[in-house]
Amino acid sequence: MTTYHELSIDKLFRLDGEVALVTGGGDGFGRIASMTYANAGASVAVTDIDKTKADAVVAEIIDGGGHAVALELDVSDRTALKSTIDEAASVFGGLHILVNNAGITRRGPTLDMTDDDWDSVIEINQTAVVLGSKAAVPHMLVHGDGKIINLASIVGLVGNRHFAHIGYQAAKGAIVNITRGLAVEWADQGIRVNAVAPTFFRTNFGAARMQSNPDLLAAIEADTPIGRFGEPWELAGGLLYLATRASSMVTGVTLPIDGGWTAV
Ligand SMILES: NC(=O)c1ccc[n+]([C@@H]2O[C@H](COP(=O)([O-])OP(=O)(O)OC[C@H]3O[C@@H](n4cnc5c(N)ncnc54)[C@H](O)[C@@H]3O)[C@@H](O)[C@H]2O)c1
Repeated sequence: MTTYHELSIDKLFRLDGEVALVTGGGDGFGRIASMTYANAGASVAVTDIDKTKADAVVAEIIDGGGHAVALELDVSDRTALKSTIDEAASVFGGLHILVNNAGITRRGPTLDMTDDDWDSVIEINQTAVVLGSKAAVPHMLVHGDGKIINLASIVGLVGNRHFAHIGYQAAKGAIVNITRGLAVEWADQGIRVNAVAPTFFRTNFGAARMQSNPDLLAAIEADTPIGRFGEPWELAGGLLYLATRASSMVTGVTLPIDGGWTAV
């Protein structure tokens, strides 16, 4: 029978001795994931296309008493994606958690979309998630324990009547089913694969770029049952849950963190 102490926060939510790698870790949700996991005791490889931003997050973590290294990584460079994951596993002596977070979007009507708009959004938001997972899992299999967390989106679960961005919607929808597919494929080897689906959050990617359009901001808030944009830190609980023992029976799910957006 489970004892009282086996249900302690330390037993359920700590990551001591584990190694995490976060793509796009220099800003927004990636920064939150990196700091959350470091706070929980993990050693974190903070990777980003912009090394300066990754360096700043690592400095914050070390200043707070955590353990992290910064690595430059553009996830659309397929060779570098694998070699950077290998390097992080080598530096820290293993890999337990991968957060496929790096993402971009190209907004605009589908009739105006260029081939490059489509290709770059699919490469970074979708292909890199599969190839990053493929590179990470052999390291996780060494100790038979791995957690992959993908950044989906509410627009991968439902449509978006506020603006067009078909490549992004396609990629985020694909992430939902890539999460299911890889979860089932690797479940019996100790690897869990889950995703979070945020609504519109106040990151540089999200609300910041909409500041010049107060009508759009107001329309999105009006469509959100909780009535506001998310703050980046509000992803921390979901990211921690899916990376820890607390979610040991959970795989293949996409967890909406959306203020009720997809409940309507
Ligand atoms: N913010 C939102 O409202 C929102 C909502 C749903 C889903 N998401 C998803 O969450 C993830 C993170 O978004 P965010 O809001 O934190 O974005 P952000 O722009 O705040 O941060 C993204 C980080 O990724 C890095 N990056 C960009 N291209 C990269 C590449 N090719 N390789 C490596 N790093 C790269 C950037 O330098 C930046 O540090 C994305 O996958 C995004 O699609 C965001």
